[in-house]
Amino acid sequence: MIAVAITGASGPILGIRLIEELLNSGKTVYAVVSEAAWSVIGHELSYKKSGPAPLAALLSKRGRASAPALLKEFDPHDLFSPLASGSAPCDALVVVPCSMKTLSAAAGGYADSLITRACDVALKEKRKLIFVPRETPLSAIHLENMLKLSRAGAVILPPVLGFYSRPESVSDMVDFVTGKILNMLGIKHRLFKGWEEQTSGAAAKTGKRRAA
Ligand SMILES: Cc1cc2nc3c(=O)[nH]c(=O)nc-3n(C[C@H](O)[C@H](O)[C@H](O)COP(=O)(O)O)c2cc1C
Repeated sequence: MIAVAITGASGPILGIRLIEELLNSGKTVYAVVSEAAWSVIGHELSYKKSGPAPLAALLSKRGRASAPALLKEFDPHDLFSPLASGSAPCDALVVVPCSMKTLSAAAGGYADSLITRACDVALKEKRKLIFVPRETPLSAIHLENMLKLSRAGAVILPPVLGFYSRPESVSDMVDFVTGKILNMLGIKHRLFKGWEEQTSGAAAKTGKRRAA
């Protein structure tokens, strides 16, 4: 099982695309969307939260997840969720996008919600924990929080574009970041071509290679 938390930073589409791709690759996904994230989803995706399983409803509307039954979503205040306990198995937790508030809470061990508790659990259990922080520019406090989490074993994977994939649309850019997260999780994907794949023809012709 892979846990995905979507918090109230800009770019909730990154978390949504990740969940879709995880479901499409047959993974069970436990998801939590913060209250602030629903506000941003309303603003950026023109989608209004509704019903007892709002994320499932959103995925169904988008129609890009082939195995929606593998998704289980939890209320961000539900501290009885398995995600709140170290004894429940979880392969990895991805916080995408991660707000500076949640980043700060995770760096400070301040577990006041299911998302921040799940971060705390992942750190103490030495599990794979990936933060996709979204803010710019970054203050010294943001940077210190990222350094603290990195030193504690988390992966800091900001949604930074690589133009070598030659994105032509926002969707390409979202897929690039999603692919980077999947790479970090060790899950195969075809969201963008790796550098080797893109340049194998050119390299064969010129004999030139480029550092990653
Ligand atoms: C439209 C919108 C965009 C936002 N974008 C960001 C952002 O990119 N990064 C960030 O750290 N906070 C952003 N915020 C502020 C967070 O939503 C706010 O700090 C919130 O308390 C985060 O709560 P959460 O971490 O529990 O989801 C944004 C808020 C709104 C309404």
